[in-house]
Amino acid sequence: MGFIWGHLLATAVLISAAAADPNDERCLTHLSQSLQDPLKNLQNWTKDTFANPCQGFTSFLQGATCNNGRIYKLSLSNLSLKGSISPFLSNCTNLQSLDLSSNELAGPIPPDLQYLVNLAVLNLSANHLSDDIPPQLALCAYLNVIDLHDNQLSGLIPQQLGLLVRLSVFDVSNNKLSGPIPPSLGNRSGNLARFNASSYGGNKGLYGYPLPPMKSNGLSILAIVGIGLGSGLLSLVLSFTAVCMWLKVTDKKLENDQGKITHLMPDY
Ligand SMILES: *[C@@H]1O[C@H](CO)[C@@H](O)[C@H](O)[C@H]1NC(C)=O
Ligand SMILES: *[C@@H]1O[C@H](CO)[C@@H](O)[C@H](O)[C@H]1NC(C)=O
Ligand SMILES: *[C@@H]1O[C@H](CO)[C@@H](O)[C@H](O)[C@H]1NC(C)=O
Ligand SMILES: *[C@@H]1O[C@H](CO)[C@@H](O)[C@H](O)[C@H]1NC(C)=O
Ligand SMILES: *[C@@H]1O[C@H](CO)[C@@H](O)[C@H](O)[C@H]1NC(C)=O
Ligand SMILES: *[C@@H]1O[C@H](CO)[C@@H](O)[C@H](O)[C@H]1NC(C)=O
Repeated sequence: MGFIWGHLLATAVLISAAAADPNDERCLTHLSQSLQDPLKNLQNWTKDTFANPCQGFTSFLQGATCNNGRIYKLSLSNLSLKGSISPFLSNCTNLQSLDLSSNELAGPIPPDLQYLVNLAVLNLSANHLSDDIPPQLALCAYLNVIDLHDNQLSGLIPQQLGLLVRLSVFDVSNNKLSGPIPPSLGNRSGNLARFNASSYGGNKGLYGYPLPPMKSNGLSILAIVGIGLGSGLLSLVLSFTAVCMWLKVTDKKLENDQGKITHLMPDY
């Protein structure tokens, strides 16, 4: 019995030591190439460690957590990181939690994150990320948390994200998003978690429940219709007056001319 356990343990140790995953290595190598770390906060983020970042549940990389020899959590918040998010992050296929919040990351959110099929937490808040929110994130079926607040994301909120039934936190406030809030996210029903206006505020072009209905330059639809009707009526009155005055003037001129003509007529 002792011999069998000993044997199993030895095998397990051998396996975990040899379990440097080529996908994790590719993921970390590309991620470190796409990031800039001006304050040298990322300890052990070197080529050698990428080849062997985990030993069982022990991680040798700052900000990484390991599970059975694979990277399953990356928490690199508030480290003054610059650069962009590599699409090869999707090669960390066991990743469950990705937190790159409160840095200075720019560029788009790679749609390739859709291949992180175990991802439950995505926190990219407080960066300089731009472009559209990729609708493909809806393919990460286990997503619980999507926190993208305080970035420069633009375009529409993809209605597909409403398909994420486990979503309990959704925050896209303080971006440059526009268009209607999809009801699949703004007005959820049944036992799906609901998100209030604080999830959507601070986006100039965004409208619809739980935010107020469409507005344009701070004017309500009613005001726009009113102004439209008012200016139409005004121009009608103005052109009518103009025509009347013109008629009056030509009338007078005609009278004068006729007078002149009679005057010039020779007497027979
Ligand atoms: C860096 O790696 C060494 C050995 O590989 C390890 O002892 C140390 O804890 C690691 N540092 C961090 C911050 O993970
Ligand atoms: C972020 O990091 C800075 C500098 O290391 C520190 O002073 C600050 O308290 C951190 N902020 C948070 C919210 O952790
Ligand atoms: C690694 O990620 C890149 C970018 O998403 C992708 O093109 C490539 O197929 C991935 N490699 C593997 C082995 O999944
Ligand atoms: C995302 O990160 C920010 C900053 O680190 C933190 O304040 C916020 O609570 C996180 N979001 C979630 C949903 O945990
Ligand atoms: C929200 O959805 C419910 C049905 O689930 C509907 O009755 C209601 O009118 C919707 N509210 C808004 C503001 O769209
Ligand atoms: C909105 O929801 C958040 C949690 O998601 C909560 O902390 C906040 O108090 C809510 N705000 C209002 C006005 O209900």
